[in-house]
Amino acid sequence: MMEWRTCVMVLLLILVQRAIAEGTVTIIQPHITHNQTREAYGQPFRGLNREDQARFFRGRHLFRQSWVIAPASDTLVGLGPLYNRIACVSCHPKNGRGRAPEEAGERMQSMLVRLSVPGKSATAGPKPHPVYGTQLNEEGVPGVPGEGRAQVVWEYHTHILADGTPVRLRKPSIRFSELGYGKLKPVLTSARIGPAVFGLGLLEAVSDEDLLAMAQQPKPDGITGKVNRVWDIASQQTRIGRFGAKANVASLRSQIAEAMHNDLGITSNLLPRENCQPRQHACRQAPSGGSPELSDTQLDDLEFYFRHIAVPAQRNTDATDVISGEKIFADIGCAICHKPQLQTAKDYPHTTLANLSLQPYTDLLLHDMGEGLADQRPDFLASGREWRTPPLWGIGLTESISEYQAYLHDGRAQTLTEAILWHGGEAKKSRDRYQQLPRRKREQLEQFLLSL
Ligand code: HEC
Ligand code: HEC
Repeated sequence: MMEWRTCVMVLLLILVQRAIAEGTVTIIQPHITHNQTREAYGQPFRGLNREDQARFFRGRHLFRQSWVIAPASDTLVGLGPLYNRIACVSCHPKNGRGRAPEEAGERMQSMLVRLSVPGKSATAGPKPHPVYGTQLNEEGVPGVPGEGRAQVVWEYHTHILADGTPVRLRKPSIRFSELGYGKLKPVLTSARIGPAVFGLGLLEAVSDEDLLAMAQQPKPDGITGKVNRVWDIASQQTRIGRFGAKANVASLRSQIAEAMHNDLGITSNLLPRENCQPRQHACRQAPSGGSPELSDTQLDDLEFYFRHIAVPAQRNTDATDVISGEKIFADIGCAICHKPQLQTAKDYPHTTLANLSLQPYTDLLLHDMGEGLADQRPDFLASGREWRTPPLWGIGLTESISEYQAYLHDGRAQTLTEAILWHGGEAKKSRDRYQQLPRRKREQLEQFLLSL
């Protein structure tokens, strides 16, 4: 009797294995979503229980909802006194990337400008500008002047690929006007668009040891790669940075509290004082929406939300162009930095996130990307030429979700080709190989990127 049962079990196992191999059955991975609609960047992990789903949607609500100016009897009160936008989602529309203004005179909708002066802060971060702080807050509540306007002015030049194809590239420079608190210059600036915000909990769950090992591993093409080490306000210690364009933030919790504080003017127990600089008197006297304005429970809900936003599954994996493109991606050296495979820590305390295999196409390390991309504004250990490799997962859905394309830290690239052509520094050899490719191979590489 036992033998007969074992036989059936073995047979079933073989059938299931074959179905998986043939692709007729896909293994359900909790952190991958097969949603390809305009909501694809905002799906919860699969298998969350009811209570956890409710937390996820509470966090999502806080991310999408507008905050109002104090005093008010609304739920989300305390916007400002100085701020950039009234809701988080403004700069991360549909959880996707923001964009740069097209023309001088157009307002920044989903972009911000970081400020600092040479030197380091008490925590070894960027040294705040003595009057304007570390970020230009364009808006102020009634009675509090906004800090001013930042405008983007584009300079264009044409790059010719090896086969003669011209590609027009644009580079931004930032002009300031309507300054509310006097002289801004001399100042270091860094303009950044809001990046996509899915899959971040997974990146947080990759172990420090893995990041350090990747940094130490010898790499071809003269590529190095290093971790940033930043002051983490949540744990009150120096930790390896993972988030932000220069890996300038160590944890999701700190990232959320800093965004609340710097972008919306919302205080939390991590940053309990309003974002007013010493010389901004009206700001310091403006009414507060509570102490703090964001409760610990709300911070917990937001953290839970970001931890459990799934990543879109790769599409068209059987298409011959995608398969060829993936090979080109590896052959010309893109995969050295845009690492196809990472693993989350086996012993990660949040067990839903532990021991998962990821295809993020990043090493989360800083690389010198050359003069063309440099902002000349150091951020902890990141120099003015260094940027963190951004993940490429989900990038192929950009246009269908956002209805535009905007790549690189400042959104200067409007096509994937432009984004690649801006690569310099450690990525120069890889970029050079790309521009030598015949058109057909460039198209295949693009098809691969669009499948992500
Ligand atoms: C004015 C535009 C703007 C607003 C408003 C904004 N963000 Fe961001 N966000 C950005 C930019 C720009 C970055 C990249 C920052 C950097 O490079 O340091 C970012 C980064 C992030 C990241 C890290 C993403 C990554 O991959 O590194 C998270 C998470 C995030 N924001 C959440 C929020 C939350 C939560 C709010 C609301 C409290 C918010 N953002 C409001 C512009 C904005
Ligand atoms: C030396 C490491 C390195 C190599 C090699 C490299 N990249 Fe990158 N890549 C980066 C970094 C760092 C950025 C971000 C630069 C910035 O925002 O200014 C980036 C940005 C990108 C972006 C834009 C992503 C976004 O979200 O805006 C794309 C697309 C991209 N790389 C594709 C490629 C391709 C294709 C190749 C091979 C031809 C390649 N990269 C080679 C490090 C690298």
